[in-house]
Amino acid sequence: MVIQDIWFDLKDGRRALLRSPREEDIPGTLDYLVQSAGETEFILRYPEECGRYTYDGEKAFFERKNASPTEAMLMCLVEGKVVGNCDIAVLPHIKARHRATVAIALLRDYWNLGIGTRMFMELNRIAEGFPQVTQMELEFIEGNDRARRLYEKSGFRIAGVHPNAFRFKDGSMHNEYLMIREIKR
Ligand SMILES: CC(C)(COP(=O)(O)OP(=O)(O)OC[C@H]1O[C@@H](n2cnc3c(N)ncnc32)[C@H](O)[C@@H]1OP(=O)(O)O)[C@@H](O)C(=O)NCCC(=O)NCCS
Repeated sequence: MVIQDIWFDLKDGRRALLRSPREEDIPGTLDYLVQSAGETEFILRYPEECGRYTYDGEKAFFERKNASPTEAMLMCLVEGKVVGNCDIAVLPHIKARHRATVAIALLRDYWNLGIGTRMFMELNRIAEGFPQVTQMELEFIEGNDRARRLYEKSGFRIAGVHPNAFRFKDGSMHNEYLMIREIKR
């Protein structure tokens, strides 16, 4: 699914652009994947686990997302730079087609500027556009209070816990929380 340009103002006054990914975004996306993995413990991969991402792999991934009727990816660009993205996918199996999973991550320099809030407005709108979807789902790691705040203000609530889902390099264990947002039809 292709999402057309959405311009909005950041809290610091700069303009930001949300849109579907394009081939020109690939170098910035490869940099973003490695950098974001080193800036927060709250996403799954460490930087050394990003080697599998390649130009051709991202190209195929972008094309698949843009061509899919049940998936979408949104890039955020500020002053031409890829600063993060988010993603929504309706689960493919008949028994799970009422569920859409979402995910988001931004570079640290662009946290707290309102990008996540604007992205979730759009993710909610996209989800509501799928007539069969009655539930959006995501996960966050305990301690990620900024993400939790964003998700709660976007209409999500905690529905379950996965104990000790993440073990950081320092050996500490962290629970993962499932959140859902119901869509009344
Ligand atoms: C989590 C993340 C996506 C949030 O996006 P964002 O653009 O920074 O979010 P926003 O600026 O739109 O909103 C953040 C909200 O959290 C609040 N907040 C900031 N720090 C906070 C903290 N430590 N505790 C609680 N709330 C906090 C902000 O005040 C804001 O709320 P408000 O709009 O009511 O003032 C982003 O910070 C990020 O990419 N983090 C690293 C990767 C990550 O954690 N991804 C999510 C994995 S589940």
